[in-house]
Amino acid sequence: MTPLSGETELTTPSSARILQLSDTHLMAESGGRLVGIDTDQSLAAVCRLIAGQERVDALLLTGDLAGDESEKAYERLCTLIEPLGIPSFWLPGNHDAIWQASHPLAHYFRRNIGLSHWDIVMLNTQQPGAVAGLLAESELLALREAVQQAIKTDRPLLVATHHPLMPVGCAWLDEQNVRNASEALDLLIPLGNRAVVVSGHVHQDSVQAHRGVQCMTAPSTCVQFAPGSAQFQVDDVAPGCRLLALHEDGQWEADVLRVVDETFTVDLTSRGYA
Ligand SMILES: [Fe+2]
Repeated sequence: MTPLSGETELTTPSSARILQLSDTHLMAESGGRLVGIDTDQSLAAVCRLIAGQERVDALLLTGDLAGDESEKAYERLCTLIEPLGIPSFWLPGNHDAIWQASHPLAHYFRRNIGLSHWDIVMLNTQQPGAVAGLLAESELLALREAVQQAIKTDRPLLVATHHPLMPVGCAWLDEQNVRNASEALDLLIPLGNRAVVVSGHVHQDSVQAHRGVQCMTAPSTCVQFAPGSAQFQVDDVAPGCRLLALHEDGQWEADVLRVVDETFTVDLTSRGYA
């Protein structure tokens, strides 16, 4: 049963600025570390980066918000992002708890976000007990409805997921992609370049297209994975996030922002999360 439901309408300027935060991996206790990085500290650094932006209309948090399924992580996530004063919308990843619709923070678990000129649909790719992603029938239905609406209203569509729909070139991560990604991509093909997909999970920036549909992944706000790696391999690139400018004519621009005011040291010899 998906926790994502309901719709929020946001009035946005002719170019909406949407910021994707992903894979925050906050632990049960403040100061918890992932491969040497204090994930609270790195998220705080990314929040400073966001606070320095001229304007951000919405935050999309694309999963693995907790690194250990702990509820305390979500409370601290609120403490870190709420001072930004930006509407935020969350979807779960494989390291998150199984969220229920009755969750005290369920107001963040929106299915649809309507901007003034774009629609956003949030999809859940979490499979309980599995690392890899899957779109359940409820998610494919939500995507089908969002595509039909986009065609009917001639509005561009932004899709957000945790697991990517396309391989990024890291064999160990590509095995964990959405199992039935081709069904989702087939639904999006009629929109062509008026569909953009943003995902997390792979802790790295990637940009590619499938028959016009643009698929991007974002850096993590903590540990980065090395592009092109066959097995688990972290990278020493700084924590970051993705900024999207969604223009009213359906054109868009994407950028990656990285922390520059603080240095984080990762254990490059690590062979896994444990
Ligand atoms: Fe993940």
